[in-house]
Amino acid sequence: MIKTGIDAMSFYVPHRYIGLESLAERHGIDPEKFSKGIGQEKIALPGHDEDIVTMAAEAAKPLIDKYGADGIDTVLFATETGIDQSKSAGIYVHRLLGLPANCRNVELKQACYSATPAIQLACGYVARKPDRRVLVIASDVARYELDSSGEPTQGAAAVAMLISADPRLVEIDPVSGCFTEDIMDFWRPNYRRTPLVDGKYSALRYLNALIEAWRDYQANGGLDYSEIARFCYHLPFSRMGEKAHRHLAKAAKTQVNMDQALPGMIYNRQIGNSYAASMYLALISTLDNSDMDLGGKAMGLFSYGSGAVAEFFAGRVVPGYRDHLFTERHRALIDEREQVDYEGYLKLWQAVDPGDGSERILPDEARGRYRLASINEHQRHYIDSAA
Ligand code: CAA
Repeated sequence: MIKTGIDAMSFYVPHRYIGLESLAERHGIDPEKFSKGIGQEKIALPGHDEDIVTMAAEAAKPLIDKYGADGIDTVLFATETGIDQSKSAGIYVHRLLGLPANCRNVELKQACYSATPAIQLACGYVARKPDRRVLVIASDVARYELDSSGEPTQGAAAVAMLISADPRLVEIDPVSGCFTEDIMDFWRPNYRRTPLVDGKYSALRYLNALIEAWRDYQANGGLDYSEIARFCYHLPFSRMGEKAHRHLAKAAKTQVNMDQALPGMIYNRQIGNSYAASMYLALISTLDNSDMDLGGKAMGLFSYGSGAVAEFFAGRVVPGYRDHLFTERHRALIDEREQVDYEGYLKLWQAVDPGDGSERILPDEARGRYRLASINEHQRHYIDSAA
């Protein structure tokens, strides 16, 4: 059987953040509630000239620069914070990156889960056409109401992945366990900018979905718990991943080893929730930050999207994978950021309202080369400032 999976992956995060101690002060609570109780330190904040498209193009650019665009004939864009009800955000990215015109392009949505079916579909496709590659991008801005309990779990990031036959990073195992249930734990009607969320209920359903997906994974012939070296979870906040890891170990009737999950939380603690990108950010974090060479080892991957759909699957890290990581770039993206105070955060949080169709020129602030330069007559104008 042809091996398929992730040939290369890279992420992007905007260059501004608010430290959660500032939000704790604003909420009048102990900062340890966020650093320990939620397990988060910073929230990444996109500027007004950044969005899911610019972050996606920034995340994908290093992959195209290093591995070229030949054979990419499909772009799958996973997001739950789409910028248009009709047009796929991937079409803008396709132009910004100069991808071949003979390419299919579609956006997928199911809360934080949609990058996982994108990868499964892409793996099936490249198994059929091993000379082709698929660009899968997960990009999201997690934004909750000001002063709400969800506010400390905001964030933003994009992860780009090249899916191919004979991948250089992680082979995706065809066995997976899935679970769907129709619930209202977190949702965002078309007319709202921020989601409605039943936070505590959502955390309980997440844990339940983990066990249901795990049982299905086992029933389908998945790996035994003891065969999995590292676990990556969807991380709305890192403490959720810790709870998930304990919960799964208990279901597998084994002693929990937090070291198997903690490397996956390092980047997320500094970035916050990135919805569809979150579990893949955890995978990058694990590959970049594990002291042990993970070549040949199995990674357990748990993807959850409210509403709700969950999937547990596994990937095997390819020996020599370290030659294909972007670790230095990733660390610099996180380390070289500017902190904003609460006032600065409020300005970034407020939306630009282009609803009347008149022109809005956006401040040139993004640190990357791709920017949303203006919105005019209801059209978004993205530019490559290096072109
Ligand atoms: N020091 C240390 N810990 C403290 C503390 C202190 N001073 N004060 C409180 N804590 C602890 C609490 O004991 C609690 O710990 P446990 O979870 O172990 O009980 C933790 O901090 C959280 O405090 P609260 O229980 O008071 O919870 P909250 O009202 O602050 O809300 C939340 C937390 C529900 C996660 C909220 O942030 C939220 O609604 N977030 C958005 C929804 C979400 O992320 N859901 C996750 C599952 S759904 C999903 O995964 C999809 C998605 O991406 C959205």
